[in-house]
Amino acid sequence: MTIATALTKKLKIEHPVLLAPMAGVAGGALAAAVSNAGGLGIVGGGYGERDSLERELIAAGNTPIGVGFITWSLRKNPDLLNVALGHAPKVMFLSFGELGDFAPKIKKAGIPLIAQVQTLAQARDAVGEGADIIVAQGAEAGGHGSTRSTLPFVPAVVDAVGDIPVVAAGGIADGRGLAAALTLGASGVLCGTAFFASRESLAHPNLKRGAIEGEGDKTQRSSVIDVARGIPWPSQWTIRTLKNAFTDRWGNDIDGLKRNVAEERSRYLAARDAGDTAVSAVIVGEAVDLVRTDEAAADIVARIVSQAEARLRSAQDLLT
Ligand SMILES: Cc1cc2nc3c(=O)[nH]c(=O)nc-3n(C[C@H](O)[C@H](O)[C@H](O)COP(=O)(O)O)c2cc1C
Repeated sequence: MTIATALTKKLKIEHPVLLAPMAGVAGGALAAAVSNAGGLGIVGGGYGERDSLERELIAAGNTPIGVGFITWSLRKNPDLLNVALGHAPKVMFLSFGELGDFAPKIKKAGIPLIAQVQTLAQARDAVGEGADIIVAQGAEAGGHGSTRSTLPFVPAVVDAVGDIPVVAAGGIADGRGLAAALTLGASGVLCGTAFFASRESLAHPNLKRGAIEGEGDKTQRSSVIDVARGIPWPSQWTIRTLKNAFTDRWGNDIDGLKRNVAEERSRYLAARDAGDTAVSAVIVGEAVDLVRTDEAAADIVARIVSQAEARLRSAQDLLT
């Protein structure tokens, strides 16, 4: 038995499970592993490092994968879209900013365009701009996001976008989440946190261990990490991470962090390279409670799908 949805049909994939394009985590090996397991892996294009993008696209080999960009960041270095299109990706994924002139370029290349959104207005705009698939991302998500919660946001987006397939994201890391998303009217899920500690993930081993030991209760959204790293994120998006000594120190004193940024930035970047989780952020979402081992990505996909199938089957028993 398989779960066949508008998403699996549109993308010609076996399972309705997409790997989120996580900057610095979802490289070519992880994306290829998810695609080879029947889902679709999407390489994180990150913040415009051309060499690492090229390296990860090559690392995916001949396996069909997608490429994701942070739209406001891509606008600063638009040539990276050509780099990605040059590798004939299976999909292009854009999040965090207006699609603008990227959409016609992607569509002209004949590549399906997935847009990740955080508000209903963004969902409607993305459809108007030509998105083929909408990812509705709730605030539970690891990494950047906004304020809507997945449970009410997904069906509202489904209602707003007509026949366009909707994918649920934010807080989904097992088959219960996939079954729930399908019940909400989504045709698949996009998972980041579920794959953060996977064997193929590019995350530092200490950060993976931090995720495996982490709890959803101990995550929070803030802009501390972006100020520390020096990444100029627009204020409408914050980043969900595990709390640590660094976020505890500066979480309520962003102005203080800005005043001390020269010193704190070098401390942060050194800690990131060393995998020091007291300072460097473990970027995961509320679903981190469901991440307890360093499984291979293929096992994660298989587990999510088989659990969802079992849940959907047993849901029949509720009907009398
Ligand atoms: C470590 C990490 C890095 C992320 N980086 C990106 C990114 O570069 N671009 C992007 O569009 N989304 C990024 N996201 C957000 C994902 O696209 C997705 O919305 C999120 O992971 C879904 O929620 P979940 O983490 O609960 O599965 C990132 C998420 C995580 C956990």
